[in-house]
Amino acid sequence: MKYMNLYRGYEKRKGSIDKKISSIIERSQFIFGEELESLEIELSNYTGVKYAVGVSSGHVGLVLSLLALGFNAGENHSNKEVIVPAMTFFSTAEAPAFLGMKVRVCDIDEYFNMDIKKLESLINKNTVAIIPVNLFGQCANYDAILDIAKKNNIFVIEDACQSFGASYKDIKSCSGKLGDIAVTSFFPAKPLGCFGDGGMVFTNNEELYKNLKQLRHHGDEGTMIHVKLGTTGRLDNLQAGILLEKFKGFDEDMEHRRKAGEYYSDQLKNIVKVPKIAEYNKSVYAQYVIQVEDNRDEIRNKLNELGVPTALYYPHPIHLAPVLAEKLGYKEGDMPVSEYASKHNIALPIDNDILKEEQDIVIDAIKKVLGK
Ligand SMILES: Cc1ncc(COP(=O)(O)O)c(C=O)c1O
Repeated sequence: MKYMNLYRGYEKRKGSIDKKISSIIERSQFIFGEELESLEIELSNYTGVKYAVGVSSGHVGLVLSLLALGFNAGENHSNKEVIVPAMTFFSTAEAPAFLGMKVRVCDIDEYFNMDIKKLESLINKNTVAIIPVNLFGQCANYDAILDIAKKNNIFVIEDACQSFGASYKDIKSCSGKLGDIAVTSFFPAKPLGCFGDGGMVFTNNEELYKNLKQLRHHGDEGTMIHVKLGTTGRLDNLQAGILLEKFKGFDEDMEHRRKAGEYYSDQLKNIVKVPKIAEYNKSVYAQYVIQVEDNRDEIRNKLNELGVPTALYYPHPIHLAPVLAEKLGYKEGDMPVSEYASKHNIALPIDNDILKEEQDIVIDAIKKVLGK
């Protein structure tokens, strides 16, 4: 068994994906093209957002979002603060830090998302944005986050790199309603993954849309007149073509994935701590993460011996990342819930096509290792 079997997602659509790739190569339409345009339209129709801009990765999408909001490259932003959760992939914090902004870290709650009880106390006159993350495929607490952002007149960038297909109170992730801008990733292991790097940025704001289109193409307004400092940030047309084919079965894929997550929870809830999903949330289980009380390494080794590979999300919380910790003045003990998660989380195998028989092997192995 693999931790994630991505080949099956290709195998079941092999005919149409191969045809699409050949067609793009025959047309040699690699950068910009009809597939990119179609994908942007399809995904914006799906989430109900006005504008979608394909970008070269989720990380680039986060950087471009900050640039689009007016935090320009090449300028000094050292007095501007951006709040991110302590438990996320490094990219969430790296994007504002890369632009010279000050990162402030917020601990997480029992859903693995930004703890809104701790958020308000982190805001001061220098705060310009919050980047909530929908960790492991479950949306953060947006009613509270958007309320706090509105009251303090600060931007919200929805880091939806793990949550395309999820929803919060029937509002879809990436609909542009859970912040000023949303960013997703098409990294191969994501619920909607391509065959390389890719991402998309979503917004309902026309000005931000125009900025994003320029910024992903070196700030070019369309005539090789460079009006902003941007980057090579486009989603390439081959990846867009592959995503168009994969998207055709996306709803069924997510239904399968959700059922797989619920099956694990049902079978494991009396043995380990299973992920807590708020009743108003629909998760896409980008990762299925349990928590064990102790002996994590030993448990993982034993599971591995029984043929069950596992992974760690994330073994080092953001505030302790060597490149940030000292500069930001954080130390061990500052974010207790995230630090606990970093030491006790174990991610179990899950993907869009995982078989029930494979899940049963995982469940039996956990019962055996934990002696229940
Ligand atoms: C929460 C989060 N933010 C940002 C990113 C960055 O996305 P990418 O890998 O496409 O650059 C990821 C992807 O791993 C992620 O999980």
